[in-house]
Amino acid sequence: MKRKKLPKLESEIIDTVSLRRNNTQEEWQLDVRKASIGPDSIDIRRLYGDSKMFTWDPGFTSTASCTSAITYIDGGAGQLLYRGYPIEQLAEHSDYMETCYLLLYGNLPQPEEKEQFVDEITNHTLIHGQLETFYKGFMRGAHPMAIMVGVVGALSAFYHDSTDINDPEQRKLAAHRMIAKMPTIAAYAYQYANGMAFPPPKNKFSYAENLLQMLFSVQSEDYVMNPKIVKAIDRFLILHADHEQNASTSTVRLAASSGANPFACVASGIASLWGPAHGGANEAVLKMLAQIGNKKNIAKYVAKAKDKNDPFRLMGFGHRVYKNFDPRATVMRDSAYEILEELGIKDPRMELAMELEQIALNDDYFKEKNLYPNVDFYSGIILSAIGLPTNMFTPMFAIGRTVGWLAHWKEMFSDPDFKIGRPRQIYVGEPARDYIQMNDRGHTNRPLRFNKFWQR
Ligand code: ACO
Repeated sequence: MKRKKLPKLESEIIDTVSLRRNNTQEEWQLDVRKASIGPDSIDIRRLYGDSKMFTWDPGFTSTASCTSAITYIDGGAGQLLYRGYPIEQLAEHSDYMETCYLLLYGNLPQPEEKEQFVDEITNHTLIHGQLETFYKGFMRGAHPMAIMVGVVGALSAFYHDSTDINDPEQRKLAAHRMIAKMPTIAAYAYQYANGMAFPPPKNKFSYAENLLQMLFSVQSEDYVMNPKIVKAIDRFLILHADHEQNASTSTVRLAASSGANPFACVASGIASLWGPAHGGANEAVLKMLAQIGNKKNIAKYVAKAKDKNDPFRLMGFGHRVYKNFDPRATVMRDSAYEILEELGIKDPRMELAMELEQIALNDDYFKEKNLYPNVDFYSGIILSAIGLPTNMFTPMFAIGRTVGWLAHWKEMFSDPDFKIGRPRQIYVGEPARDYIQMNDRGHTNRPLRFNKFWQR
């Protein structure tokens, strides 16, 4: 079979649009650039130079920040493609190592390529002995995501031979090292919290098996593999491997755009992922289910979620891009049922989750706003069923997403339009004013202003 070359990151100009400022009658022509699938984009790069105006798009709801050939999402159709392959097919037929190869290198590997790739990753799973002592600096009760941000950021202090971003070999080494070490780093954060010794990675195991044995084996006993759990975790990692320009990936790209070292950039991605509106949602879903507690309370919480004056949201519902269904959620839901059945768990939270799902799916508010369960709604159920505490859910997501961050990090360097990321703003603050000496500022009997400042 002839192998397809990676597509160039340039997009063809296929049209122009006219932009007219009505009160001055000025007009500008802007190029339209073609996407291979999905919406074309208006090229506004010259707009500021020509018109002295910025565009305004908080949250980047209509802004393409780069060209990319890695992942495609059609939110309306509920479609997710990694390098063109549907996520459902990858979840069924592929494995995480193959998916990593695909995302990084653009094509499914041939047998020799897969073998060598797995070999390279397997040979980097150990972490430096001195890095292990680093864990002792953290409080036992520290959130594992806090530990991960710290330890991954610290990798740049340990692996000096892979921080030169201008050297392709060092870039490859850094990427392979991070994919390899992430399960070890996350598992040790968990073992550290439990006060247990750190089980070494074992080369005889697959990526998912190794992760499970490092999470659950103790010195006195080996972890007994259950092939269904191994498969579910491998699939979990595939489903989380990439999601185009989401908050954490954009964070990695922005951090990397300044030329920062790759370990620091991935640490910034982990920090962004931690937020409850992003990867932290899987943990938040289980906390929410605990808060709801009982089926009879669902109506009350659905009403709270709909109340504009109440900050409560149904965690695991809604998505910036998917406005029909999240294809990852469909696979994850089946996987969740499979695992609960395999382990014979009758988890009342699962029943609560299913009831909540049905009520929300039939509620006008959720229907009108296209709020469907996302991948995080079900992933927590699986992770909880295999015995992980809620604070380990987002670290598991981070392990899977590392390859996506790295694929985008690598792609950025191949982009002919690569520049340091530097958004602009609409300034609405004070115009220039003169400094006032302290004695001329007067006194106030009102409560001090800075105490109120931090309220929303
Ligand atoms: N519960 C109740 N109402 C919601 C929810 C929700 N989960 N999500 C969105 N809405 C409402 C908003 O209040 C808003 O209403 P309005 O139009 O009346 O103001 C409307 O739907 C649009 O919401 P936005 O926040 O503007 O949508 P956005 O695209 O910015 O946010 C997000 C998407 C962050 C995922 C949001 O749906 C949310 O907070 N969901 C819960 C957290 C979650 O599950 N995050 C995981 C995302 S998947 C992932 O990262 C892997």
